[in-house]
Amino acid sequence: MKSTQIQKILMALTGFFLCIFLVIHLLGNLQLLLPAEKAKTSFNWYSHFLSGNILIKIIEILLFVSVAAHIVYALILTLNAKKANGQKYVYDRRGTASKWYSRNMGMLGSLILLFLIIHLKDFWYQYKFTDLPIDEQGYKDLYSIVIEAYRQWWYVLIYLAGIVALGFHLLHGFFSAARTLGVYNPKYVKGFRIFGWLYTGIITAGFMIIPVYIHLTII
Ligand code: HEM
Repeated sequence: MKSTQIQKILMALTGFFLCIFLVIHLLGNLQLLLPAEKAKTSFNWYSHFLSGNILIKIIEILLFVSVAAHIVYALILTLNAKKANGQKYVYDRRGTASKWYSRNMGMLGSLILLFLIIHLKDFWYQYKFTDLPIDEQGYKDLYSIVIEAYRQWWYVLIYLAGIVALGFHLLHGFFSAARTLGVYNPKYVKGFRIFGWLYTGIITAGFMIIPVYIHLTII
């Protein structure tokens, strides 16, 4: 097997793992939409539960390794593709053959990385490495940190931009993974497409609703 093929398979596998993470992350975050008091109790308990669980710690390490590997393989594949098609196009007719987001995966990936850096600095880092206020149950009050962040409209806009970039990235990822994994039968390709659109629609809409809802209902 050629090394580019191995890199593409590893991208598909790490991408698949990240897709599962997104489902679990979204389900956990949907607790933020509960009535305020209930949301606070349940979200802070959930964050405390995650931080004390050894299995979750292992998954967290796997998650960070997957994100890093996904980025490194993406860079290697992009550089190899650039080397292979070194010549410039006289007429740029690429728009007729592929979608704009497929040709801009590097740009979308960089936007998502920027979003992730802001996101992890403001929530994950705060929770793990700073002394947060304690809630009535005796747990770190991550809920109030999240709510305060979404009070600012520009912060909500950063999230919406990051999540839209993630949506296009996911769409392309699904179709490219189908090719890498050798799904060529038109019946299965159609199924893959429908699933890709459904998954992407639910994940992006779910993540977008959270900051918008909190911003609009915050007192
Ligand atoms: C409304 C949207 C989102 C909210 C409210 C949210 C909330 C949070 C919070 C509170 C944490 C810290 C939890 C902890 O460490 O226990 C966290 C961690 C994290 N989030 Fe998000 N998140 C959102 C969207 C996203 C998106 C779209 C991505 C991916 C592109 C993402 C990726 C991550 C990652 C990788 C972590 C670190 C995971 C861990 O160590 O457990 N999040 N998020």
